[in-house]
Amino acid sequence: MKSLYHIFKDKGYTRRDFLRSAFLITSILGLHHSLMGDVVRALETKPKPTLVWLTFQSCLGCTQSFIKSTSIMPADVLLDYLSLRYHQAFMSSSGYRAEMLKKEIMEKQKGQYILVVEGSLSSVKKGAYCTVAGRSGVEVLKELAEHAGLVVAMGSCATWGGLPGAHPNPTDAVSLSAVLEGKRIVNLPGCPPIGDVMVSILTGFAITGKVPDLDSLGRPKTFYGQTIHDRCYRRPFYNAGQFVDSFDAEDAIKGYCLYKLGCKGPITRNTCATMRWNGGLSFPIQSGHPCFGCSEPGFWDRGMVYTPLSVVEGGFGIKEAVVGVAVGTALGAGMAYLNKKTDRG
Ligand code: SF4
Ligand code: F3S
Repeated sequence: MKSLYHIFKDKGYTRRDFLRSAFLITSILGLHHSLMGDVVRALETKPKPTLVWLTFQSCLGCTQSFIKSTSIMPADVLLDYLSLRYHQAFMSSSGYRAEMLKKEIMEKQKGQYILVVEGSLSSVKKGAYCTVAGRSGVEVLKELAEHAGLVVAMGSCATWGGLPGAHPNPTDAVSLSAVLEGKRIVNLPGCPPIGDVMVSILTGFAITGKVPDLDSLGRPKTFYGQTIHDRCYRRPFYNAGQFVDSFDAEDAIKGYCLYKLGCKGPITRNTCATMRWNGGLSFPIQSGHPCFGCSEPGFWDRGMVYTPLSVVEGGFGIKEAVVGVAVGTALGAGMAYLNKKTDRG
């Protein structure tokens, strides 16, 4: 199998182009510039890994977000850095041939391929609500995950159960970790996750073979280490007690805080306020809409998109925020409330 460098060369790129790309990749991966030598070596020697992308109970929004990433062009990621061999929406083969291909990858590339899963799983009624080629999704997933080098849960459905798992959860939808107990999974929650985040994680693993530092819920700390509120540009208005009272208010344009309109930024771990969407163009709060916590467990079941956290049991109020006391305690209480409401996981 050709190394990434040889693929570059065959395309007519010069050594200078190659080094420039290596520099770009090092920055995108958030690695220190002193590690560029490692990235170059990996590009020169490493064959590109195979990617198997399974979709179960999902809307395909994660795939949409992925192909709209702007950091490294998705076509480059899929064609140059990774070898996308199986994806129900993209592949040209179908039926028997597609299933044989999956089997071949499992047999010939044991422990080497990357498995991405989009959507939740259903285990009731012998998995009848979600089947692939006549087999239950759970069965297909377990088989492929057993031999994968890396398993990634893409989006809130795969990570927490997501919208299919919202009340009354007719298919008893569950997350990947509920099905693959004990398996290390990189969780990338979000409805959908930011395309650039997905691309960085997959490309990073393809090039360095390393999994980023994860928090206790399996989320990469680089992207989920802080809340939206921590990095929100409206934060000075929050601190000053200046809030928007209605969507059509002048203050919304001036940048006042959206807390009273139901913003869940204070309890939502994601990188939207830093990386933003569509190539860094904007994110929900910048467009005037409160964050409704799409990357947090059970966000839909809270049923409070426009309800301020201060009204939510155990949430925290503006008063505390303005006087600057007890914020840490209240954040913990807010999270405890969400965990209590989302024990479905
Ligand atoms: Fe930004 Fe929302 Fe925090 Fe206000 S409450 S500062 S809009 S994240
Ligand atoms: Fe989701 Fe909030 Fe970002 S709603 S897209 S986590 S700003």
